[in-house]
Amino acid sequence: MNTIVAPSLLAADFSDLKSEMKWLNSSSAEWIHVDVMDGHFVPNITFGPLMVKTLRNLTDKFIDVHLMIENPNKYIEAFRKSGADNITVHYEACVHLHRVIQMIKDTGANAGISINPHTNVELLRDILPYVDLVLIMSVNPGFGGQKFIETTYSKIERLHKMREEQNLDFLIEVDGGVSIKNAAKLVENGVNVLVSGNAIFTSENPVEYIEKLSLV
Ligand code: DX5
Ligand code: ZN
Repeated sequence: MNTIVAPSLLAADFSDLKSEMKWLNSSSAEWIHVDVMDGHFVPNITFGPLMVKTLRNLTDKFIDVHLMIENPNKYIEAFRKSGADNITVHYEACVHLHRVIQMIKDTGANAGISINPHTNVELLRDILPYVDLVLIMSVNPGFGGQKFIETTYSKIERLHKMREEQNLDFLIEVDGGVSIKNAAKLVENGVNVLVSGNAIFTSENPVEYIEKLSLV
């Protein structure tokens, strides 16, 4: 299976989203990653469901919504109605994580969970059978363009091992500081979906860059 590339729109030119989506649509990126931040769970504020609705009208690609918000249960329905294909919530933001995952599944969307760099991946063991995706944060969430945290490799390796032991098929996604420099090692360790913002959008030829990432 080819690696799925999910360009992060946080690094896009918001003044010209239509053109950004046009070239993204022509690229080999299978997913579009949308970072939703609320200024509480993370120290930054970004997009809401209206943005997802706008994007839904501009692309047929799989829309991957990463909710970096408190009380994500309140917004699941709205993001699904706006056109999200996958909805990922943070482990750290959910007291009743199993219920929230169920809520996402009930809307018909894929359900993902994400963990911050300090969260032990072993804590996910009992929820793994219920999710379609686990998103490992390789930077502290909130901003694009940060440096990749090196301990992420072993975390992904441990998650990959748990996936094999439990004979599960959820996808492993990594987000933060991902570029062509670390992509191959990430995929070797078990990653299926590479989220990448700055590396793609600041490269000389973003379409080619995405192609390279998908072939690592
Ligand atoms: C960070 C976001 C990321 C971010 C990645 O909180 O979740 O998706 O856009 O951007 P880069 O690839 O620039 O680190
Ligand atoms: Zn993200």
